[in-house]
Amino acid sequence: MNELKGVILAGGLGKRLAPLTKITNKHLLPVYDRPMIYYPLQLLIDAGVRDILIVTGGNHAGEFLRLLGNGHAFGLKHLNYTYQEGEGGIAEALGLAEHFARGRRLAVVLGDNLFQFGIREYVERFRRQKKGARILLKRVEDPERFGVAVLNGNKIEAIEEKPAKPQSSCAVTGVYLYDDQVFDIIKTLKPSRRGELEITDVNNAYIRKNELCFDILKGWWTDCGTFDSLLRANKLVAGKRWK
Ligand code: DAU
Repeated sequence: MNELKGVILAGGLGKRLAPLTKITNKHLLPVYDRPMIYYPLQLLIDAGVRDILIVTGGNHAGEFLRLLGNGHAFGLKHLNYTYQEGEGGIAEALGLAEHFARGRRLAVVLGDNLFQFGIREYVERFRRQKKGARILLKRVEDPERFGVAVLNGNKIEAIEEKPAKPQSSCAVTGVYLYDDQVFDIIKTLKPSRRGELEITDVNNAYIRKNELCFDILKGWWTDCGTFDSLLRANKLVAGKRWK
C-alpha cells in the first residue's frame, strides 16, 4: 500500500509546436530514436513506480493507446489513461488523477520533460519524508521560461511562474512528488492570467504550509515545449546514446 502512484501529464494542445502538433500530440513526436512519452514513462519505471496513469487530451489521444497499450513493452502489466478536455493547466490535468491516486503519495512527471539520469534517489528521500511535497530544482541560463524558486539560503520562500526578472537561476523541473493533500489544494486554485490552474500555485500552497522540500537535480534536464528546446532534447539524447 506504500507504493507511489505515477502520473504522466501529457495533455494540452502543444500550440507552440504548431504545425508539428496539428496532426499528432506533442508527446508522440520523436525525440531522437523514440516518441517523447517513452522518456517520462521509463523515468517513473526506473524509479520503481509501476502503477501509472497517463493524462492526455486533444484530438489525438487515441494514438497513445495504439503506441503504448498496457505498457507490456516496458514490462508493465497495465497502464491507466484519462482524458483532459481543453488545456486548463497542469494542475487541472493532475486533478483528473484524483480517482486513481486519492489516499496515496504520487510521483508526477510532465510528459515533455527529459532527464539525463534517474530520479530514484529523490523518490527515496520523498518516501522517507513524513508529509508534504518535494520538487527538483536545476540551475539554468533561461529561468524566465520556467517556474523559478526564490531562495533564502537553504529555504524556498516562493516560486514565481515565468518571472520577467527571475530572482534566482533555479528553475523548477517537471517532476513533482506529492502527498494526497495535493487534490484538496487543486480544488482551491483559481485560473491564472493565462487562464490555467498553475502547478506553481500548488507548490506555493505547500510552501505556505512549510511542507515543500527540494533537491538540486544532478545531470542535464530539458523540456521539449518549443522548437529550440525540442532540438536541444534531441541532441542531448543522441549524445547520451552514443556515449
Ligand atoms: O518544464 C517545466 C515547467 O513546466 C515548469 O518550470 C513550470 O513551472 C510549469 O508551469 C511548466 O511550464 P510550461 O508553461 O512550459 O508548461 P507547458 O504548458 O508546456 O506544459 C508542460 C506539460 O504539462 C505538457 O507537455 C503537458 C502537460 N499539460 C500542460 C497543460 C497546459 C497538461 O497535461 N495539461 C495542460 O493543460
